[in-house]
Amino acid sequence: MPAASLIPEDAIGTAQNLAAAATNLAQLRAVMESFEGCALKRGATNTVFADGTELAPVMLIGEAPGREEDRIGKPFVGRAGQLLDKMLASIGLDRARNAYITNVINWRPPDNRDPTPEEAAQCLPFLRRHIELAQPKVIILLGAVAARHVVGKTDGIMKIRGRWMDYRVGDQLVPLMPTLHPAYLLRQPAHKKLAWRDLQAVRDRLNAPG
Ligand code: URA
Repeated sequence: MPAASLIPEDAIGTAQNLAAAATNLAQLRAVMESFEGCALKRGATNTVFADGTELAPVMLIGEAPGREEDRIGKPFVGRAGQLLDKMLASIGLDRARNAYITNVINWRPPDNRDPTPEEAAQCLPFLRRHIELAQPKVIILLGAVAARHVVGKTDGIMKIRGRWMDYRVGDQLVPLMPTLHPAYLLRQPAHKKLAWRDLQAVRDRLNAPG
């Protein structure tokens, strides 16, 4: 029997109900740890929920945990995470004070393959509630896969990066900046300057009066 058929029929509806019932981040983490509606969870060691400072002004959203993240249970702890920390430091942000990090997908896809649309749809209700509860002033969306699933953009990250969008969750409209994923930048270091430009736009927006 294929793994997908073991998933409850209305996994997305279940995710929506569980997410809506969570009234704080600790509850959201707990309901995600109890959720059996995403097949990726069966192959994962940990539910990778978030890292950083709760209620920070900046929330970063990556793609999915890799091997190290799955082992440790925190997002962006491998090489891409080290580069991400440097990128954040360049605009005065760090996990310990003013940045909060999560992923679209909370369980490691086997062999780090791209998540399927179904897997993303099963995780998205949690991400949307996560944003509502974390109340960021600004979201930084990392990479093409996150852009595809979170804002439904299939244009390619090179086209949409660097341009502010408004992301609606509940009754909040959160400014969102798509930029390049640090794992991509490790492969294409010549493009780091583009990501730096995007991060400077985030810094300017955070520093703007009002
Ligand atoms: N890449 C991601 O998108 N997320 C992680 O947590 C690690 C690597």
